[in-house]
Amino acid sequence: MIAVSVRITSRTALCGVLLHPAGHTRSPAMHNAAFAALGLDALYLAFDVPPESLAAAVGGVRALGLRQVAVSLPHKQAVMEHLDAVDEVAQRIGAVNTATRGERGLVGSNTDWIGAVRALERAGPLAGQRAVVLGAGGAARAVVYGLVERGARVTVLNRSESRARELARALGAEAGGTPAELAAYPHDLLVNTTSVGLREDLSPVPAEALRSGSVVMDAVYDPPRTRLLRDAAARGARTVEGKWMLVYQAAEQLSLWSGCEAPVDVMEKAFDEGG
Ligand SMILES: NC(=O)c1ccc[n+]([C@@H]2O[C@H](COP(=O)([O-])OP(=O)(O)OC[C@H]3O[C@@H](n4cnc5c(N)ncnc54)[C@H](OP(=O)(O)O)[C@@H]3O)[C@@H](O)[C@H]2O)c1
Repeated sequence: MIAVSVRITSRTALCGVLLHPAGHTRSPAMHNAAFAALGLDALYLAFDVPPESLAAAVGGVRALGLRQVAVSLPHKQAVMEHLDAVDEVAQRIGAVNTATRGERGLVGSNTDWIGAVRALERAGPLAGQRAVVLGAGGAARAVVYGLVERGARVTVLNRSESRARELARALGAEAGGTPAELAAYPHDLLVNTTSVGLREDLSPVPAEALRSGSVVMDAVYDPPRTRLLRDAAARGARTVEGKWMLVYQAAEQLSLWSGCEAPVDVMEKAFDEGG
């Protein structure tokens, strides 16, 4: 664990994350390590906010002048009505994961899509790539938005096919069948945004449908090497762990309020050590 020592003064900026249940979040470790590396006079805390307290919590953020809060499950949609403004991208995605204090008050934005795109760009450019996204929930909306924005051609596969159709129509993608039918969808990139594999040794797709030479990212980051990523590597695909999406979205959050370039390597190390 990285030791974080902050000399708290009357000028110390306060940031945090609103989530429920608080459980185990690595956001404080990542952000506090970055603040220390940058010499920022700032502190980051986790706030366990049940749904019935969300409005009051946002009022508290505003009244106490927190510089920024990350907004995590289950508040990403519900928080929108409590903010002073929501930027256009977050409105399109339909979810806010960041509220930052500015001239317009508390403004909602979404950095999940940037996190996903930067994580995938570690493996190469996205323009013109054939991408398949598994899932049609909140993470899928951010990933599909990001891929379309970068010029990839995206097909969405989901257990509930009507949700995939709705998402695809809203964000400029195509809808296909279920993840079990992946073999019918040739692709260069595959991103899992279903919760299959979260703390369980299961994959959302048959291993035989994974393609040699493709890039496979799993948004699930617990465990770090999911069944999907192990199957993909065994089939000759390049893999991107879900932690990169989380680290890059947090890096963007830090830049938004501080104007500093975030130390991604420091944040990644803090993520690993906070596991
Ligand atoms: N790395 C990151 O930065 C990051 C960021 C956000 C989320 N995530 C991860 O992404 C995952 C999804 O999060 P979310 O917020 O999008 O959740 P969500 O809105 O609840 O969506 C869940 C998705 O998983 C599908 N699903 C759930 N159980 C399934 C099953 N047994 N078989 C097939 N499909 C199943 C759902 O399909 P139906 O539509 O059919 O229900 C839906 O598409 C979580 O594991 C979360 O930890 C990671």
